[in-house]
Amino acid sequence: MAGFTDAAFRRICGSFGADYAVSEMISAAALTRYDRKTADLAKITAGEPPVVLQIFGREPETMARAADMLLSGDYPGCSYAAPPAGIDINMGCPMKKIVSNGEGCALMLHPDRAAAIVSAVREVCERHGVPASVKIRLGWDAEIAPSFARRMAEAGAERITVHCRTREQMYAPSADPSAAARVAEAIRDTGAILVGNGDVASPETAAVYLANGCREVAVGRAALGDPWLFRRLKHPEEDVRPTLEEIKSLVVSFVADVVRERGEVRGVRESRSRAAYFIKGMRGSAALRDRLNRAVTFDEFARAVEEWQEKE
Ligand SMILES: Cc1cc2nc3c(=O)[nH]c(=O)nc-3n(C[C@H](O)[C@H](O)[C@H](O)COP(=O)(O)O)c2cc1C
Repeated sequence: MAGFTDAAFRRICGSFGADYAVSEMISAAALTRYDRKTADLAKITAGEPPVVLQIFGREPETMARAADMLLSGDYPGCSYAAPPAGIDINMGCPMKKIVSNGEGCALMLHPDRAAAIVSAVREVCERHGVPASVKIRLGWDAEIAPSFARRMAEAGAERITVHCRTREQMYAPSADPSAAARVAEAIRDTGAILVGNGDVASPETAAVYLANGCREVAVGRAALGDPWLFRRLKHPEEDVRPTLEEIKSLVVSFVADVVRERGEVRGVRESRSRAAYFIKGMRGSAALRDRLNRAVTFDEFARAVEEWQEKE
C-alpha cells in the first residue's frame, strides 16, 4: 500500500505472522529513468518477511525492464537484505493520476495490453526464478474479473489478487467476497493461486474468501492500526488482543525504526499519521494525537505515547 507498506511496517506485519508482504507500488517508468526516490521504495531490509515488489506502468517493455532491474539489483540505490520474492503488477489502483495515464486499474479496460505486460514480466521473472503475479479489481464499472483473470493466468500470472470492488467503487461500499467464487471458477484449471482482498479484518471475513475459492487472503487497511490481525488470522482459536502497553510499545518501536531509516525530523513527521491508526477509536486518542502532532523529536514523541493513559 502506497505510503504505508514501507520496510518498518512490513517488519511488524511479518512479526505477527504475515507470510509475505507487498511493497508500495513502484513506477516502472521512473525506475527505468533511475529516479532515486523510486529506487528507495524497493529497499528490502533485514528482519522482513519475504517481500514481493509491486510495479505499475503501461508499456510492456518498460515493465519488463523495471522487473529485470529489480530482480537483478542492477540500479543505483539498490539495497536488499534478501532478494525480492517476486514481482506483482498493479492493475487495481483507482487514483485519477494513475488511471489517466493508462496505468493501474485502467489496464482492465485493455486486456490485450495487460496480457502483453504479464507475459513480458513473466519471462523476466522466469529467468530469475521468481513468480509474476497481478493485482486486479472486479472491473472498471462492471464485473469482468473472471474473464480478465483467466486471460492474466494464461499470460503467465501465477498468483492473482482480486480486490472485490470495481474501480468505480474505489474503497467503499463493502467488498463482495462472493465475487471471488466466479473468478476462482474461471481460473480453476490454470493452476494460478487466487488471493481474496477487500475488508479482510477478522478470521471470519477471511474464511468467507476461502469458502469462495481463494487460497489466500490479502490484508489491506485493517492492518494499518491492527497488525495483530495477522496473528488472529493464523491462530483464530486464540483470539489474542494486544494490551494497551503492547500497543504503546509497538508504536514507539515503530517510530524508532522509521527514525533510524529516515532521520529524526522526517521520521517523526511522517510517523504522526501512522501512529494515529494504532490508537484510533480509543478513549483519549484525540488528546494523544494532538500531542504527537506537536512532537518534533523522537524523545517528545515517545514520551507522549508512554505518558498516555487511555482514560485521559
Ligand atoms: C492509502 C492506500 C494505498 C494503497 N496502495 C496500494 C498499492 O500501492 N498497491 C496495491 O496493490 N494496492 C494498494 N491499495 C489497495 C489495498 O492494497 C487494498 O487492495 C484495498 O485497500 C482493499 O483492501 P481493504 O478493504 O482490506 O483495505 C492501497 C489502498 C489504500 C487505502
